[in-house]
Amino acid sequence: RRILVIGGGQNAEHEVSVATARAVAGALRSRGFEVSDIVIGRDGRWRHGAETLGTSAAASLAAALPLLERTDVVFPAVHGPLGEDGTLAALCALARKPVVGSGLRAGAVGMDKWVTKLVAEAIGIRVAPGRLVRAADSAGIEFETDVVVKPVAAGSSYGVTLARDARQLDEALRTASRYDDQILLEHVVHGREIDVAVLREADGSRWAAPPLEIHTSGLFDTATKYDGTARFTVPADLGGADHAAITRAALAMFDALGCAGVARMDFFLTDDGPVLNEVNTMPGMTAESQVPRMFAAVGVPYEELVARLVGAARS
Ligand code: DAL
Ligand code: MG
Repeated sequence: RRILVIGGGQNAEHEVSVATARAVAGALRSRGFEVSDIVIGRDGRWRHGAETLGTSAAASLAAALPLLERTDVVFPAVHGPLGEDGTLAALCALARKPVVGSGLRAGAVGMDKWVTKLVAEAIGIRVAPGRLVRAADSAGIEFETDVVVKPVAAGSSYGVTLARDARQLDEALRTASRYDDQILLEHVVHGREIDVAVLREADGSRWAAPPLEIHTSGLFDTATKYDGTARFTVPADLGGADHAAITRAALAMFDALGCAGVARMDFFLTDDGPVLNEVNTMPGMTAESQVPRMFAAVGVPYEELVARLVGAARS
């Protein structure tokens, strides 16, 4: 089968998406798939091998359509806005091409940290108390208590800052507004950082891999996510009740959003149980990323996981 793996993208996670796509393409080639690679440039132009298609994003899309036509399954390995947010899944839906991972709706909701919170609360999953502000109104925000300031739609912690006083809040709002015109102010949650990945198989069943715990000396921020200093324990050492509660919450979010493929739900495990931090509908997928580690722990090697995702792709 011919697979089109799309990486890169037009947001801060461009390089992360290049790494995910490269790893995914390598895994698929090792399993005998015929793979074509596309890297979407920061300017929106699509690159195929050494060739940049077209002189604008629109011309690039037009030039890429024949490639799409010759493809059996698309693997959009693009994290963040204009990729993971459902944009690429929507393009495939319009073209009636089977696509790996979540569709437009789950991608769009999962990318929006505010709407994700509303959905979680509505189905009884705890989230950090927070509020939404428009970047345009952020000059009037007064510091009240320590808050985590986040762009509503971004990934890999780009634009996320902890603010402990008025000056830091100012700076944090300015930083977040470089990534999105909507900003989330969240109370700080103290707990263990636990991730749960849920996989939807070709037969429509879905199951959660064993939870993974993240250990860092400070914050699990953009630098710590990719500098190799974070340590992971999988399966996380959890009591039976915590394990059950966190797995149940991950499955409930997967179902509520109508996710497909694999999604990673990130939690803080507090003394009062799990608090959902966010949902990633196209999580990091190099062999060293959290999701492949979780599935490897139950005997699903990286190449097998990637092949299963292709097998479960839907149009
Ligand atoms: N946004 C990054 C890639 C992740 O969640 O793994
Ligand atoms: Mg994320």
